[in-house]
Amino acid sequence: MKELEIKTKVTVCSLDELPASLRELVQVAKNKTKDAYCPYSHYHVGAAALLADGQVVAGANQENAAYPSGLCAERTTLFAANANHPQTAVEALAVACYTNGYFTMDPASPCGACRQVMLETESRYGKPMKVLLYGERECYVFESAKDLLPVCFTSENLG
Ligand code: THU
Repeated sequence: MKELEIKTKVTVCSLDELPASLRELVQVAKNKTKDAYCPYSHYHVGAAALLADGQVVAGANQENAAYPSGLCAERTTLFAANANHPQTAVEALAVACYTNGYFTMDPASPCGACRQVMLETESRYGKPMKVLLYGERECYVFESAKDLLPVCFTSENLG
């Protein structure tokens, strides 16, 4: 028997330490929280995907009276990007959360299902996708969706 320590890597930074293109992407995600449809949770999440050709696709969480029928901002955004620009890789995804009148102090933390979809997007285009999680105090920048989901399940597991 042995113990395995699994490490991940994340850059912690402020918004103005980011390059302009990523700073703008975070700003789009922050603005998009206004379009969240979240009458049940009042938790507004915005996301923005930067495509390899420079286009930006944004989305927000969409809730439903039948709760599980709703969808998170990250998946709304990635599915829209992938469905409308199937040939274009997603280079970066920014996420921001707004609740009780403020953006969250801590960086947004995507759910497991969204992390899994981020991973599929990344492997679909065969190139790492940066993930930027906005927080008022600090931002997290992951170089790859893989860094958000250690011991992940991918098509390789299917054999
Ligand atoms: N939500 C997201 O859109 N993304 C996340 O990263 C976490 C949670 C949404 C789902 C639901 O509409 C609300 O936030 C509360 O869970």
